[in-house]
Amino acid sequence: MISLFTSLLVVAAANITLTADNIPEVVSALTLEEKVRLIVGYSDGMAKAAGDVGINNKTLMGAAGATSPIERLGIPSIILADGPAGLRIRPEREGENRTFYCTGFPIGTLLSSSWNTEIIREVGEAMGNEVLEYGVDILLAPGVNLHRNPLCGRNFEYYSEDPVLAGESAAAFIAGVQSQGVGTSMKHFALNNQEVNRLSNNAIVDEQVCRELYLRQFEIAVRKAQPWTIMTSYNFINGVHSAENKWLLTDVLRGEWGFEGAVMTDWGGGYRGAAIVSAGNDMIQPGGVDWYNSLIEAVNDGTLPVEDLDKCVTRILQLIVKTPSFRKYAHSDSPDLKAHAQISRLAAAEGIILLKHNGALPLVAGSDIAVFGTASYDFIAGGTGSGNVNKPYVVNLREGLAGAGFLLNEKVDDFYAGYMKTEKARCEKINRNKNGKWYLDDERALEVIPEDVIADAASSAQSAIVTIGRIAGEGKDRSVEYNYLLSEAEKGLIKSVSDAFHRVGKKITVLLNVCGVVDVTAWEPYADDIVLCWLPGQEGGNAVADILSGKINPSGRLPMTFPMKYEDDPTYANFPRILADKPFNYSFYRSLGDGIVRHDIRNIDYTAYEEGLFMGYRYYVSRNVPVQYPFGYGLSYTTFSWDKMRMEKVEGGWNVSVCVKNTGEVAGKDVVEIYLEAPRSAADRPLRELKGFGKTRLLQPGESTVIKVFIPASECKAALSADGRMKRGWSLVPAHDASKDVDVMIGS
Ligand code: BGC
Repeated sequence: MISLFTSLLVVAAANITLTADNIPEVVSALTLEEKVRLIVGYSDGMAKAAGDVGINNKTLMGAAGATSPIERLGIPSIILADGPAGLRIRPEREGENRTFYCTGFPIGTLLSSSWNTEIIREVGEAMGNEVLEYGVDILLAPGVNLHRNPLCGRNFEYYSEDPVLAGESAAAFIAGVQSQGVGTSMKHFALNNQEVNRLSNNAIVDEQVCRELYLRQFEIAVRKAQPWTIMTSYNFINGVHSAENKWLLTDVLRGEWGFEGAVMTDWGGGYRGAAIVSAGNDMIQPGGVDWYNSLIEAVNDGTLPVEDLDKCVTRILQLIVKTPSFRKYAHSDSPDLKAHAQISRLAAAEGIILLKHNGALPLVAGSDIAVFGTASYDFIAGGTGSGNVNKPYVVNLREGLAGAGFLLNEKVDDFYAGYMKTEKARCEKINRNKNGKWYLDDERALEVIPEDVIADAASSAQSAIVTIGRIAGEGKDRSVEYNYLLSEAEKGLIKSVSDAFHRVGKKITVLLNVCGVVDVTAWEPYADDIVLCWLPGQEGGNAVADILSGKINPSGRLPMTFPMKYEDDPTYANFPRILADKPFNYSFYRSLGDGIVRHDIRNIDYTAYEEGLFMGYRYYVSRNVPVQYPFGYGLSYTTFSWDKMRMEKVEGGWNVSVCVKNTGEVAGKDVVEIYLEAPRSAADRPLRELKGFGKTRLLQPGESTVIKVFIPASECKAALSADGRMKRGWSLVPAHDASKDVDVMIGS
């Protein structure tokens, strides 16, 4: 194998150095071996074969991958690192006393819950700055697959069940990161909607459904923000692997949408090197000598045309010349982590959602608060797997509340200090012995119901908070029994605290520090207020305290539906059922071992998207199925009124405008969601589909502003007649959420 690399030593001398203007000449000057080296990522195996031993420790610093340098032509190696909630590199380096931590930002689901593309862009800018200053070229983010089913293990990295919200969020994030002169890799293209058997699951889906839902957010972000790269997914689509899918990568992505960047595989994704390259997939990551050999062989035996190889090499060079590594940017290794922590905190608060509001919040300043639930003391800032960030610290709820000037009820605080210490020791023992099973979630403290402490706190504290925590991560999907539903201990804790506090006329708040949708129906009546803070990043406790104290008025809105029960989900029959509390790495369920791809077991080998367009709120609204909380829903400490709604035909679409007034007592922000509403007679179309949205600035009591949203006619094709007008019965509706009750129709 290694002998193939020795041919690099005998290349014809070419007096040429890569610039942005001489890419065709450089391609001609490259030997076949050099071209293939560029395409196959610079993994440890490739680096060692080329004599660059130790690259992983020195150059990559815990990054996910790189490209091979071709020094004689002035082609540098570029570095690729995860991920959606912040840059993922190793915090420690051999021979260095200092650390290299990165800011832990809120997860993708929280960012989209903000419905605020400006703040998402700011997060992107800060993250991009860390990418630049730590010497990385491409951030392997954002993750934009739709939340097709609430239990996909990677939903936390992704934005929404709706392609317009996901696409706009992605475009803002990409624009922010790339404004720093570094690239992004929008992933996972496409239909990577489950983790079970992710390396070979075949998504069987109608092309129209694909285009309207599962590809749509990619299209929006490509057209608006041109990510430098796109990462293909691990799965097959209608029998063709995404990484080898010419229709997807060449016809649709480049041909129809005008994508100008490079495409790379997901790590180890794809089966046949020649098919990957011929499909228009430029980079095989993280690479390996076997991939290298198979491509050389494919060119030599004629299965891979050199022209296909050259197209990919050209695109890789076009990417390289844009990077900081090519510009020889002298990175500081010292981004402004303090400033970025502030952005993380603000963004987190902007996406926190008030689900129920019955007088518990905001908390009375300086009051005595009884803080229950183990997650309050061991807050979950982010998910696991490649979406995890090595962050310097995590502010938990206890610290956040103390910092905001609240008194922590002494008895409760003492109890948890002791309990968490014992539990920490127990968990650490288990977590130390994972035997390399990286995909297993860490053992966490077990929930407990300290009845005596609760009874005491009900008389001494003014209010109680119960935090429920849920983590998820790459490589496995969530279980209904062990992850979606609350455990008996969790429900018991909420009920006990609720009973004790209500008995003496005091209120309780339940805080959901969760990775995705969980059941609320079973315990909702016990909570006065419910706050959903997702996994809010390293500043989580502070951001939540900002909301609980009323320093910031909640303005997040749900980017997905909370059903009454999981079984109501339209994809219920077409999604794997996980029966264990700590599932083994389901991502390798069937494909690994003998290398044979099988497509015969339902929901494992293949997944049928039988729900068609009726996924998420499109189903619940159209079929009148009651939900716990609809898509787009979220409350505020103030009230708003809407009037002067206008719909104006303009070039290429409509401007929909709404005058929003803060009619309450405190400052706040509102979100205007614009849905295309179909007549009931159009049974094949969802009743409502989000087509645009706008968020107000902070409105003081009595203040108003006009939100104007442009809805392109191209977004409303189903509603248009041949002359480009909207057909009878169709309308654009501004609404507070996707539920069937129309707030106010345009013109009414
Ligand atoms: C994940 C990607 C990630 C890559 C590199 C893969 O396992 O699916 O999202 O970017 O690893 O870490």
